[in-house]
Amino acid sequence: MENIEFLDQRASVRAFASNDHISKELIEKILLHASYAPSSNNFQPWKVIAITEKQEKNELKKFSFNQKQVSDASAVFLLYGDLSAYDIDKQIIFERQHQIIPSNQVANRKLRIESYFAAHPEDKDREGLRLDVGLFAMNLMHVIRAFGYESVPMRGTDFDAIGKYLKVPENWIPILMLPMGKPLANDYTHIRKKVDDFAIIR
Ligand SMILES: Cc1cc2nc3c(=O)[nH]c(=O)nc-3n(C[C@H](O)[C@H](O)[C@H](O)COP(=O)(O)O)c2cc1C
Repeated sequence: MENIEFLDQRASVRAFASNDHISKELIEKILLHASYAPSSNNFQPWKVIAITEKQEKNELKKFSFNQKQVSDASAVFLLYGDLSAYDIDKQIIFERQHQIIPSNQVANRKLRIESYFAAHPEDKDREGLRLDVGLFAMNLMHVIRAFGYESVPMRGTDFDAIGKYLKVPENWIPILMLPMGKPLANDYTHIRKKVDDFAIIR
């Protein structure tokens, strides 16, 4: 039950203590745990830029309709999907390096991934990135809470302007901005449709 309450209490928090400092070590730890998220064929196509400097957060706020949570956050995560990540040969090398597959299974594994992409060609494009990085983002939001912080997922920002400002590589597709910080209030109201309205249970 405690676990369910913890999950239920995730909500978009937009009021953060503006004087909080978060260490690079803690950001790394949070990202490590977030990376246990699932992804198609374990391609892990996410890329993350974590902004902690006040001046840069202030710039990001300007690109985000002046939404205050962006500059008050302890850190602002920018989540991207790498269009070049769905490379089967690189994936096989990764899996061999980590002894996930034995050498006599390489051809078979390659065929399995190729068949998957033949059935779902959109999964190795922007659509796949949105799903894979979206799952990473959801995991990240829960991990952030496990470390005593809160966050808000955002797309109300000018990703083109951010890309130019931070010199983000062209093949990184922007998925979400996620400011995280120490919450000023605990307000976990959720207004949701009824389960009957969105689920068919047979
Ligand atoms: C794709 C996406 C974009 C969003 N963009 C913004 C945003 O720009 N600013 C904001 O304050 N909240 C943003 N939100 C948060 C939603 O408003 C929020 O998740 C929704 O109202 C449900 O509330 P809850 O997260 O508290 O459960 C965004 C959420 C998603 C998933």
